[in-house]
Parts: sequence; C-alpha cells; structure tokens
Amino acid sequence: MAQNIYDDPDFFSGYSQLPRQVQGLEGAPEWPAIRAMLPELSGKRVVDLGCGFGWAARWVRGQGAASVLGLDLSQKMIERARADTVDSAIEYRIADLDTLALPEAAFDLAYSALTFHYVQDFARLVRVIRKALVPTGHFVFTIEHPIFMAAAHPHWISDEDGRKTWPVNGYAIEGERRTNWFAEGVLKYHRRLGTTLNALIDAGFQIGRVEEFAPTPEQITQTPQLSEELERPMMLLVSAFVPASAPT
Ligand SMILES: C[S@@+](CC[C@H](N)C(=O)[O-])C[C@H]1O[C@@H](n2cnc3c(N)ncnc32)[C@H](O)[C@@H]1O
Repeated sequence: MAQNIYDDPDFFSGYSQLPRQVQGLEGAPEWPAIRAMLPELSGKRVVDLGCGFGWAARWVRGQGAASVLGLDLSQKMIERARADTVDSAIEYRIADLDTLALPEAAFDLAYSALTFHYVQDFARLVRVIRKALVPTGHFVFTIEHPIFMAAAHPHWISDEDGRKTWPVNGYAIEGERRTNWFAEGVLKYHRRLGTTLNALIDAGFQIGRVEEFAPTPEQITQTPQLSEELERPMMLLVSAFVPASAPT
C-alpha cells in the first residue's frame, strides 16, 4: 500500500519550501534537460503522473497542449494544484499509481517527474501507460537515479584526502528503501537501471534518450551547492515512445 507521505503536515510544509516548489520548473536544475526531451506539445493530450502542485500541467498547456490530466496520491498536493490553476482544460484527480487504470489510447504524452521511485510495481504501471498512449505517443519521466537511491544517503564519508565520497550500497538488492527527508522513514523503491529500462522495452516502448543529469559549469557558478551533483548522479531522465506501427 502506498505511503502517501506528502499528506503528512510536516512533510508537506517542508516540501512546499523547496526552490522547485516556490519558483516552479525554473527552480529545478534538471528542467532544461527535461524540456529538451519533450515532444512538440501543440494539440497534445497529456497525462502527468504524480503532478504535485501542477507546475508541469500548467506549463504544457502554455505550450499549446490540448488537455492535461494531473494525477496524484496526495490530497494536499491536488488541493494546491487546483488552487493554483485556472484552466478548464486541466483536470486534477487523486489516484494511486500502484493501482492506476487509464483509458486506452487516450493520451499523446505521459509525463512524470520524480514520482516513480514511490511506486512499488513499476512494470505494471509502465504497461498501463503504454496502453493509454496512442502509436507515436511519448513517455518522458524522471526518477531518483538508482545509484543515488542505493547510496545510503545522506551518509557522506571522507576518503584519505578528506574528499567526500558517496558509497553505493546493495545496488543489486532491489526493493524498499527508507530515508529521512522532511519526515522519518520515507518509503521509496530502488530498482536497477536495467530493470527500469527493461520495463519500458518489455511493455513495447522504444527508448529515445537516457540522461543522467549533471549540472553545467554555468549552473554550478550560479548555485555552488550543485557541485555535489558531480559526485554521483541524482536524477535519471528517460524519454521513450510508442512505435508508429504498434497495435493500439
Ligand atoms: C517529488 S514530488 C514531485 C511532484 C511533481 N511531479 C513535481 O515535479 O513538482 C512526488 C509526487 O508523487 C506523488 N506520489 C507519491 N506516491 C504516489 C503514488 N503511489 N501515486 C500517485 N502519486 C504519488 C506525491 O504525492 C508527490 O506529489
């Protein structure tokens, strides 16, 4: 059963103050890399899985998307998304991605940011998404990188030169990971890189691009704390699509 930590008042209050939630997409250093992976949006029907405050839903509509369905487990996130959105072509619904059902061939783009590591059965979800997309439909998502997830963060250790290193523990052991981030024992699911990508291939997707986000030198000059992201990849960005010849 999904944990729904985003409805915990203390977690929600801490999470709401992250730069990416205060400033929106421009506050997320990986956003330029995600944007480069997105298809042309004009007239597209979009589903945003784990939509949070609805930043991406509003942005894709601004790019000409025909409609957006934003789904999220958390009532607090959905309430905030609804409060911040004045657009009848965007609908927000509470839904658990672990048990999600979607209409078949109803969307041109499935998008998700930093949510799938909370989902227990990723392969099932990917099959649902594949069926919900039309042929040539796109699937673009980000997750916590499995190397970041496997590292028992936030345990920095120093090597002999005093340089911080980031250990990766139990990478091959998939399944539950607990972290303390705005709350004790936040539940996430670790999957190897191959498991994530093979779930897409097995569901009939063709993989378009895979990025292991690292900040640019300009981003580090602007925000020096981002240099930590050079030590290990924190985010994995993937774009995939349904082949034109695929059966619906
Ligand atoms: C890190 S936030 C990302 C929100 C948004 N995509 C963004 O980038 O701003 C993760 C979101 O996933 C949602 N979430 C977690 N587990 C979920 C599940 N099982 N089903 C649906 N949404 C879930 C949370 O409520 C939260 O809104």
